[in-house]
Amino acid sequence: MSYSVLLVDDERLFADSLAELLRKNFSDIDCCYSFEKAKALLKQKEYDVCVFDIFLPDGNGLDLVDFAKKQDFPPEIILITSNDFSFNENFKNIKESVFDFVLKPFNLFYALKRIENAIEKRNKKIKDYYELAQISEKIQIIGVSDAIQKIKKMASFLSNVDSHVLISGETGTGKELIAKYIHYTGSRANKPFVPVNCSAISFGLFESEFFGHEKGAFTGAVSSHKGLFELAGDGTLFLDEIGEMDLGFQSKLLRVLESKEFRRVGGSKILKSKARIIAATNRNLLDEVQKGRFRKDLFYRLSVININIPPLRKRKEDIVPIAMYLWDDICKRLKVDIAKPNKEWFLKLVEYDWPGNVRELSNFLEKYIIVKMFSGKEDVFELSGYKEKQSVFPEKLVPLDKWVNDYILYAYEKCGFNKTKTAKMLGVSLSTLKRKLKKIK
Ligand SMILES: Nc1ncnc2c1ncn2[C@@H]1O[C@H](COP(=O)(O)OP(=O)(O)OP(=O)(O)O)[C@@H](O)[C@H]1O
Ligand SMILES: [Mg+2]
Repeated sequence: MSYSVLLVDDERLFADSLAELLRKNFSDIDCCYSFEKAKALLKQKEYDVCVFDIFLPDGNGLDLVDFAKKQDFPPEIILITSNDFSFNENFKNIKESVFDFVLKPFNLFYALKRIENAIEKRNKKIKDYYELAQISEKIQIIGVSDAIQKIKKMASFLSNVDSHVLISGETGTGKELIAKYIHYTGSRANKPFVPVNCSAISFGLFESEFFGHEKGAFTGAVSSHKGLFELAGDGTLFLDEIGEMDLGFQSKLLRVLESKEFRRVGGSKILKSKARIIAATNRNLLDEVQKGRFRKDLFYRLSVININIPPLRKRKEDIVPIAMYLWDDICKRLKVDIAKPNKEWFLKLVEYDWPGNVRELSNFLEKYIIVKMFSGKEDVFELSGYKEKQSVFPEKLVPLDKWVNDYILYAYEKCGFNKTKTAKMLGVSLSTLKRKLKKIK
């Protein structure tokens, strides 16, 4: 990759020698000795790294910082000077906004090393930028129904505001997809997106998980540890399956959401929480509130904005466009090129209710594509046995053990292969489910 560097220093000998040294490794090096010339160059061209001397005969290098930051993708900036400004408050702010600050005198190789560090940082930023672009490209909400169109518009709007959001909908309807869309299409896109499954947090570990802990805070805390709030920083904390959260945890969470402050376990320093909260649930949280299983105050705190995603069976017009999109997506992921079936084939998918919603549709298509690759079979439902699954009992009587095992596997698939959820739905403990699954497999 080629990088462009701008060197601005009125000490010509220093600037020229550094430029020459840089040209050994980088081809695009501009060098000038005055404020005006630097300004003109910054207007014409975008740089990866800028090195500004602060005292220039016709201006101040600090003003060049503002100019450089107007670039679409602002460069890494290194300031050099012979005066130590560290005592100056104003300067402290500027120092924080630039990549590096180097005090003269120093030798050329030292300067070269600092520039190489800046280029490395730039390289990482560019990589992150492309990765982000790829993620955003992948996050596509497909659907033609009024409900989905409305949700998409709402999500776009919400991506640039801070309000907490509560997303509800049956399993597989796209709650996490919407949460990611809100995060990755807005102002927080390059900040962390931290998902947490609230049903999977073990008792006693809640505070440490969410708020972190200091070394020695409890037995086993051998080093300090950042909690989810800290990891999310000013990004998004996605509280998935919030309806499963223990009541005791709920009050602790509420306290942080209200005060926006927390402390690591065993720590005395008060930390600020800046994360945006998006919560999701497949339960009816208002029902849960009425049954005393969910705190009313937390419900109102989280549900500033409510997004409810209807199940696929209530927006059947979305099935074909989503299936067509998923077909391409799955083929891309599997690196295969299987021609899409005709419209009639896709229309057959509308006959089924898809209780596991888009996830079930996606799993079905993936299975279909793989089987088709090897057997060439065409019938949609014959292939997967989906029609039988719509009735509670199989047509042909089978031994009870087999039926129970099949039912467990069916529930497991419907719950998106999430063991915690499956155990809950079947009313058995997680360890029982794990034992049974192990036996079946
Ligand atoms: N409208 C849509 N367009 C494209 N893909 C979708 C859509 N809705 C859901 N999906 C896809 O379906 C799958 C399931 O979605 P997601 O994980 O967001 O569901 P969920 O509601 O969080 O499910 P669960 O409650 O089981 O956690 C994902 O692969 C997601 O990308
Ligand atoms: Mg989910």
